[in-house]
Amino acid sequence: MKGLILSGGRGTRLRPITHTSAKQLVPVANKPVLFYGIEAIAQAGITEIGIVIAPETGDEIRAAVGDGSRFGVQISYIVQDEPSGLAHAVLTAEEFLGDEAFVMYLGDNLLQGGIRDLVERFRESQPDALILLTAVADPQNYGVAELDGDRVIALAEKPTEPRSDLALVGVYMFTAAVHDAARAIAPSARGELEITDAIQYLLDAGMRVESHIVLGWWKDTGRLDDMLDANRLILDTIEPRCEGELKDAQIDGRVVIEAGAQILRSTIRGPAIIGAGAKLTDAYVGPYTAVGEGCTIERAEVEHSILLADCVVRDLDGRVESSLLGRNVRINRDSHQPRAYRFMVGDNSEIAVP
Ligand code: DAU
Repeated sequence: MKGLILSGGRGTRLRPITHTSAKQLVPVANKPVLFYGIEAIAQAGITEIGIVIAPETGDEIRAAVGDGSRFGVQISYIVQDEPSGLAHAVLTAEEFLGDEAFVMYLGDNLLQGGIRDLVERFRESQPDALILLTAVADPQNYGVAELDGDRVIALAEKPTEPRSDLALVGVYMFTAAVHDAARAIAPSARGELEITDAIQYLLDAGMRVESHIVLGWWKDTGRLDDMLDANRLILDTIEPRCEGELKDAQIDGRVVIEAGAQILRSTIRGPAIIGAGAKLTDAYVGPYTAVGEGCTIERAEVEHSILLADCVVRDLDGRVESSLLGRNVRINRDSHQPRAYRFMVGDNSEIAVP
């Protein structure tokens, strides 16, 4: 079996963070989302993985992932010229996949507990496709499945009137039959070749599509709140460790402090992770915070947030909360008169002031 990870597309919903970079590389607990998917596939014993990339963000993904040796797998890159849909991505990867069965993993998805058991089940029961489902509060934002008992009877992509609350999780297993299905379908209303329609085509052709209800947590990290949730869920599982330097520091609970980080007269209340070379001075870092490499937090408080590498947060009265700061963002106090907020922010940013 092979692995196929989809890491192309446009990260419109996490703009401006993903304006210039790939959404699959936004870190959760200081590790790119994409790496969790690669690790899950590797743990299932699959060593040949293709990653579908977009021309705009592909180089960044190649640089971050490399040839796969550090994950114990072999990675091939497949460039998809246009983000024309998940089934289009499968067709783009047809040469890589050949006629082997494969697991397809959406590069911005995170699934608790890995996929080893599912791959095992797929191998044993040999259906034409195996889909994963989970109950959600907003099924209209996902592919939705209708079941009769545990048999899948119909699927719809982002229906305005969902027939159930069971969303398609972004992990699928297919035999090579999916290639013909992807070729046979027409683009959807949003102009994409939908994998959901390709699976419906398999059903219509009388093929066997099995489903599995996911009981652990699952996150599509495409939106800010989901990203913060994923960060919280992963941080809840980290093993505390300190490789940095502490001076007059108070560390409570599950906290990881990476090499070269300096914590001076500061309090960190876990679960939290402080990246390599970060510097906290007279600061407070509260639960569910991931501070990226090389960040500086001085006389400021940050909680339930993700800071990408090299951010500076300094001299703030109020606490930064539920925030996602892109790389190299600076938030400072400005002592100039007149007293005013001064911003330099990218397109589609969102700032909330008290
Ligand atoms: O997250 C689960 C959902 O993923 C499913 O419930 C939906 O049925 C499925 O269509 C998909 O919906 P999204 O609208 O969330 O997909 P998105 O456009 O975010 O793309 C998912 C991943 O695939 C993302 O890492 C980008 C990549 N991608 C996307 C497209 C459209 C590609 O590599 N190529 C593409 O052409």
